[in-house]
Amino acid sequence: MDLEALNGLLRPQSIAVVGASNKEGKIGYTVVKNLLDSHYEGVIYPINPTDSEILGLKAYPSVLDVPGTIDAATIIVPAKLVPMVTEECGKKGVKGLIIIASGFSEVGRQDLEKQVVDIAHSYGMRVLGPNIVGILSNSDLCNASFAPFLPLPGKAALVSQSGALLIAMDASTYTRRVGFDKMVSIGNMSDVNFADTIEWLDQDESTACISLYIEGLRNGRAFINAALNAVKPIIALKAGVSAHGAAAAASHTGSLAGSGKIYDTAFQQGGVVRASDLNNLFDRTLALSLQPPMQGDNMLIITNGGGVGVLATDAAERYGVPLRFAPADVQAELRKHMPEFGSAKNPVDLTGMAGKDWYYASVRFAFAHPWVDALAVLYCETAMTDPLEIAQGIKQALEDAGVEGKPVAVSFVGGEQSAAARKWLVENGIPAYDAPDVAINALAALREYARSRQMAAVPFQRYADVDEAAARQIIANARAHKNSSLTEIESKKIFRAYGMPVAMTELATTEDEAVQIAEQIGYPIVMKIMSHDILHKSDAGGVKVNVKNAEGAREAFRTIIANAKAYKADAVIEGVAVQEMAPWGTEVIVGSVNDPTFGPSVMFGLGGIFVEILKDVTFRVAPVSAEQSYKMLEEIKAGAILAGARGEEPRDRKALSEVLSRYSQMITDLGDEISESDANPVLVYEEGQGVKVVDARIILKK
Ligand code: ACO
Repeated sequence: MDLEALNGLLRPQSIAVVGASNKEGKIGYTVVKNLLDSHYEGVIYPINPTDSEILGLKAYPSVLDVPGTIDAATIIVPAKLVPMVTEECGKKGVKGLIIIASGFSEVGRQDLEKQVVDIAHSYGMRVLGPNIVGILSNSDLCNASFAPFLPLPGKAALVSQSGALLIAMDASTYTRRVGFDKMVSIGNMSDVNFADTIEWLDQDESTACISLYIEGLRNGRAFINAALNAVKPIIALKAGVSAHGAAAAASHTGSLAGSGKIYDTAFQQGGVVRASDLNNLFDRTLALSLQPPMQGDNMLIITNGGGVGVLATDAAERYGVPLRFAPADVQAELRKHMPEFGSAKNPVDLTGMAGKDWYYASVRFAFAHPWVDALAVLYCETAMTDPLEIAQGIKQALEDAGVEGKPVAVSFVGGEQSAAARKWLVENGIPAYDAPDVAINALAALREYARSRQMAAVPFQRYADVDEAAARQIIANARAHKNSSLTEIESKKIFRAYGMPVAMTELATTEDEAVQIAEQIGYPIVMKIMSHDILHKSDAGGVKVNVKNAEGAREAFRTIIANAKAYKADAVIEGVAVQEMAPWGTEVIVGSVNDPTFGPSVMFGLGGIFVEILKDVTFRVAPVSAEQSYKMLEEIKAGAILAGARGEEPRDRKALSEVLSRYSQMITDLGDEISESDANPVLVYEEGQGVKVVDARIILKK
């Protein structure tokens, strides 16, 4: 991405307002007034066909009449005039367009939107919008929008697909005391998208945390890559995940993927922290913009009230932060700063008698102790203590502890004095909340950030011993025969070309051939009907297992063909597959979809009821390293079965994660051809014994 071009758009030194107006109540009036009210220090050029002065500024009939250079042009004329104005801006050498006007793809006018972007790109201009509120930046004193004022100053940046929500969030920064430096409305994302803004904000010195409101991504992979490359924390609130892609899904994997699970996993893969709702977006943004990530697992809770301590304990479990008792030396030291009836375990209860000194001593000691990875300091307002004094004590203790790189979050529960203390804490860089569970959730966000970054740090390594050309040849043959899916044998050949251990299977077209193949493979064998017209082989009486000898193979061949003909008289029968009978193992399913947003994605779950009824599956956008795949095995609820639950021997998870990783490479390499696929079942044997793909299916793209 050309960061320079985005500089002109997001940090303009001069702004033209095309459609500026003297008429109060029009957006063209408000934008000029907002630029003046925000004390914008760059040059403002109002553009209006008739008026020569707008709000005391000299106005010009066209950007072409402006004497100086223009970095950004905000466009506030009706949609049909935008192509002409874009052309003029291009001729003038404007760097970027902030198109506030609506009436484009959001109302079915994709053509008009494309026309504008094409013109802009032909002049090297970038386009923000259309259908947006504009941009706001505290550090640039720039409110080039029709949002009422600049947000409460802070270190976060908001990028929002919804203009109305951005305006609402702008105002609520003051009531919620969460500061933002920038707010960027990206609307229809005709050109500049989330990936671009992430990349730009990541290098923006005034931004510490990137906060996103997302309705839908166009290019999911560009988003993941931008997020992965970003150094700063990114938090996203994703709206409208339900039913995504479900309608188009033809397979089991597809319908399981339809519940937004791929969005979840994609965010995780990009190291993006999730927000569950708008409140949570504010609360987590505050912590991520003020505090470092939580690198370890040990959170210590210090409180003056048992009740808030218990609430915090519940929240820790809810948000997945383990709460362990502090080691003996930590407890011994902490006991010095509380009465006898206090508790030094975790939560550390200093009791209601705790004043500034006890808070100071315990926070200072705990924060500096190497066992503590994060600190939650809770306070309930009492008649004996002054909240502001306690807040100041906590801040002083954190400073005096002399450690960096550990997060802290605070909760002050009480009335106006507590509210004032929270405000003071936030202004001094400490995220403070009005409820203990919210403080714990904030620390959970900092832990999720650290953990997803660690996980994202393991890159995928391609397997070199694969034969992509052979796989493509099989697909080309199938396409030449106008087949939209591959047979089991064809599918298995492709799996084998990608180095996966597949149960040996060959096609027999005569009884003699069946016996010949069976003898090569070795008895017992499984025999199955092969026909594009018979998908459910067992229903058609087309499967025989445990065939033990040549006589049995001949008989099975005859029976299968007869059953298939009886089941579907006009079925075109290719023959009978003769397959090695794999010994019993734990059944798992590996599947793939080609997600419209993120592309090839891999699914994993245990077979049978685990997938069918419990829908206990997990996804990754492909490709996935073997290390990441191993995490998938641990992620599902039934993961303990593979680990060796109830006295069972552990299964060969190493071999299984390699299969998942190779499979993910296969669906990525052949992403232009494969729409969906699965290996069902894959049998997993005891540790060191490997796995076997018993059945495989590949559906081609239309
Ligand atoms: N160059 C410069 N100015 C021009 C040109 C031109 N080529 N042509 C017209 N103008 C002037 C007009 O004379 C007028 O100025 P005036 O008030 O002095 O007469 C001004 O531009 C605006 O033109 P109008 O035709 O009066 O259009 P209006 O202001 O009614 O609406 C607008 C324009 C605001 C762009 C409208 O079409 C629109 O898209 N509104 C929705 C915008 C929006 O909500 N965006 C955010 C979506 S997100 C959310 O929902 C919060």
